[in-house]
Amino acid sequence: MTPTPNVQISQLAPKEIVAELDKYIIGQDAAKRAVAIALRNRWRRQQVEGELRDEIYPNNIILIGPTGVGKTELARRLANLTGAPFIKVEASKYTEVGYVGRDVESMIRDLTDLAVAKVRAEYMDSAHGKLDLIIEEKMLDLLLPPPHFEEDDEEARAANQKTLDSYKKRRNAKREELKAGKLDAEEVEIEVSESSMPLMQIFSAQGIEEMGFNLPEALGEGTTRLKRVTCAIPEARELLFEEEFDREIDMDRVVREALRRTEQLGIVFLDEIDKIAASADSAEGGPDVSRSGVQRDILPVVEGTTVVTKYGPVKSDHVLFIAAGAFSTVKPCDLSPELQGRFPSRVEMDRLGEEEFLRILTEPKNALVKQYQALLATEKVTLVFTRDALRELARTAREVNEKTEDIGARRLHTILTTLLEDILFDAVDIPQKTVRITKEFVRKRLKDIVEDEDLSRFIL
Ligand SMILES: Nc1ncnc2c1ncn2[C@@H]1O[C@H](COP(=O)(O)OP(=O)(O)OP(=O)(O)O)[C@@H](O)[C@H]1O
Ligand SMILES: [Mg+2]
Repeated sequence: MTPTPNVQISQLAPKEIVAELDKYIIGQDAAKRAVAIALRNRWRRQQVEGELRDEIYPNNIILIGPTGVGKTELARRLANLTGAPFIKVEASKYTEVGYVGRDVESMIRDLTDLAVAKVRAEYMDSAHGKLDLIIEEKMLDLLLPPPHFEEDDEEARAANQKTLDSYKKRRNAKREELKAGKLDAEEVEIEVSESSMPLMQIFSAQGIEEMGFNLPEALGEGTTRLKRVTCAIPEARELLFEEEFDREIDMDRVVREALRRTEQLGIVFLDEIDKIAASADSAEGGPDVSRSGVQRDILPVVEGTTVVTKYGPVKSDHVLFIAAGAFSTVKPCDLSPELQGRFPSRVEMDRLGEEEFLRILTEPKNALVKQYQALLATEKVTLVFTRDALRELARTAREVNEKTEDIGARRLHTILTTLLEDILFDAVDIPQKTVRITKEFVRKRLKDIVEDEDLSRFIL
């Protein structure tokens, strides 16, 4: 069996983590620092020897900031950064145990599922070197079936040897063609096992949980059904590889490694945590009752409990929780005191102003301006923004945010779509292939809307 792949689990130093986040998120330095420290602490804890290690609990963080300042974006970028199992969930989608909906423990189950899939994928990557050779032989068998000799007596031997030699030659030539990808357009027929694994769904008070349960196997039907499929060579290679891989892989080992990672390194990003806070003045009745129920259910999960998953029990004691919320109508102190206590680090995220908007427009790797330029480039239209125009856009975003509602950087999205609407519509027929967006253009296009408050409420 293939050795356990050696993955680097977030060995980035806090500074490097911040630098990575800087590629996508402008400002919010305090939040970036807090998250970077928490991530590094996971790795540090792994290095601690002995009993003390089990005593070191993660320092859960709560990010507080108005809408559209990059909370969710931060989570998204973190996910790609750490090799650790990472899941982002919305606190608002859970319901109290006993009600229809998802119970909070399912977040740990989902995290485990992710970890298993990830470890399996790592094994798959490392299996390629070895299995590819086997697959190649199989493909050659299909493309050029080996000769079959009926009799093997003295007389036939010489002739057979000759056939075999010539076959080997042809096979090697075919191998070269196959390797060079010259046969990729050809189709072959292969036999693969039917990958229909009936999932038993258990309906319980907590809702539906998939229990990954192989029915035929449980019923003692050891045989897997085979089916024939005709497909192009690259696809056939892929299918045969999966088949071979499934046969070889030691799933127990994968699961053990995945469970270890989930327990020791897992991170849950609990977005929209403010949605489960109950405002103080409506203590009784309504959705607030269920919200405090969810809060109560979340407590043990954050504190550390054992969750039963289809892969076995998973302890959540050392899972790091990062919560985030806008807290516009409720305050962090509207969360139950116990829950507040589980999130010792509180970080406020800053409102975004004109300077940040200007940078957000152009600097992040996925900056909006870059996105539109790429979109229009497909129509061979070059989109150019002058510095003034960008400044004007940032200024407009700030102004509209001040006059109507502060929706943070999301305002840039709406403003740009409005600004570029005509160009996006007419892109196909634009004669001169460069479009320059100037400050005047921005003014002309947006002035009326910005000045009319009602209009901007609707459009921008
Ligand atoms: N600091 C930032 N740097 C770069 N882009 C940002 C920043 N803040 C927000 N954005 C952009 O604005 C959009 C909305 O941000 P995000 O989803 O993170 O908001 P949020 O803080 O989670 O708000 P909400 O409380 O409404 O969920 C994202 O698509 C992101 O590209
Ligand atoms: Mg969000």
